[in-house]
Amino acid sequence: MVAMSKIATGNGHGENSPYFDGWKAYETNPFHPTERPNGVIQMGLAENQLCFDFFQKWLMKHPEASLCSPEGVRKFKETALFQDYHGMPEFRKAVAKFMGKVRGDRVKFDPDRIVMSGGATGAHEMVTFCLADPGEAFLVPTPYYPGFDRDLRWRTRVELVPVDCESSNNFKITRTALEAAYEKAQAANLRVKGLLITNPSNPLGTILDRETLKSIVSFINEKNIHLIGDEIYSATVFMEPEFVSISEIIEEDIECNRDLIHIVYSLSKDMGLPGFRVGIVYSYNDAVVSCARKMSSFGLVSSQTQHLIASMLSDDDFVESFIVESKERLFKRHKYFTWSLSQVGIGSLQSNAGLFIWMDLRKLLKEKTFKAEMDLWQVIIKEVKLNVSPGSSFHCQEPGWFRVCFANMDDNTVEVALMRIRTFMLKNNEAMVPRSKLCRRSSLKLSLSRRKDDFITSPGIMSPHSPLPTSPLVRART
Ligand SMILES: Cc1ncc(COP(=O)(O)O)c(C=O)c1O
Repeated sequence: MVAMSKIATGNGHGENSPYFDGWKAYETNPFHPTERPNGVIQMGLAENQLCFDFFQKWLMKHPEASLCSPEGVRKFKETALFQDYHGMPEFRKAVAKFMGKVRGDRVKFDPDRIVMSGGATGAHEMVTFCLADPGEAFLVPTPYYPGFDRDLRWRTRVELVPVDCESSNNFKITRTALEAAYEKAQAANLRVKGLLITNPSNPLGTILDRETLKSIVSFINEKNIHLIGDEIYSATVFMEPEFVSISEIIEEDIECNRDLIHIVYSLSKDMGLPGFRVGIVYSYNDAVVSCARKMSSFGLVSSQTQHLIASMLSDDDFVESFIVESKERLFKRHKYFTWSLSQVGIGSLQSNAGLFIWMDLRKLLKEKTFKAEMDLWQVIIKEVKLNVSPGSSFHCQEPGWFRVCFANMDDNTVEVALMRIRTFMLKNNEAMVPRSKLCRRSSLKLSLSRRKDDFITSPGIMSPHSPLPTSPLVRART
């Protein structure tokens, strides 16, 4: 047989990571409430499924937005014919406006700087191709999304150098950690071309504060390297403090070469539409915009999708209410989940964004090693039957952390998952809180006949009987 290329057959896809192993376990035996009640529950998928009723309602009201309806078919031919890779003007305009809206209209985006790609996945690869040559490197703070190892490295041959962040300061990205990673790269003869930050963070569900963002901007300017800001979770910030985009920081009184700043965006998380593959590179650098636009022919968004998204995002009332409602629902689900975990003695990193919780199972490890983390993970997958993702797959430096997704399932599945966790924790009684502190099963269970708003929290104490306060962020906007 004639050999295939080294790129194709190497392990650049990263399929051997436990992150993907968990998915395989799920795929071979997926949970179904009646057909496979003992199947694996998928908690490793950062999907936002809480607002589909919103889309359905909008689509029923706007049949003309779909080309496959009697109302929309007039536009079929012009949309189906070749669209150049600049993207439809109305699509770029609508996405630019949406990006501004998500950032509280504190900053404006220029539609002419928007370059399309196949999801954020394609956007990351495209911007990496534009900025670095094979063998050059990007710094990436840990823990980070496992897909980066594939998206930035596989076909570009670029290297990633971790910036080690620690739980002792809530995984803050410090100047010391950045300098240490930079020096490490230099010692390994790697030319650092940029820093990639994810804000809000996957997997932490936290956001970067203004001071940290400013110090990051100073760092990359001093080193004269690029900054890529992955902001694909920006509309998932459901609780104060409010999200601050890198685009706001560079507008402030701060010394910054804007040619170094690039944002990766997509509608996969903020709108929960990963299947549409709408990704964006927004660069402040004209040369990068021009080059990325040429490259974008490898991953254009279909014109049918552009047409639909342009129509939907041009509807200000829809966008406004979608953003508010989505945050509200994420807030409630997050609150319920973290509260339920706390009732069985499981802590998590305090967070206010994202579709996941960074769960702290350090006290369940037999020893403080990644081998022990993998052993525990095997038990969670095989016995508890939950596909959660171990911290090591996010390059976390400290064993015992696990990412648990909470927005990709319905209320019933949430209950089954929480029940399994509770049963598991009861078995591990040495790590349990005193029995008296445990909630009875009945109070843990979210009555589906009762609205979730019956659920609740106040800063330390939570009772399932008090009303859930509206997210402060949502309140501020309404
Ligand atoms: C931080 C981050 N960047 C990029 C992606 C890829 O997103 P997309 O589905 O838009 O390709 C993900 C997906 O989980 C992610 O979490």
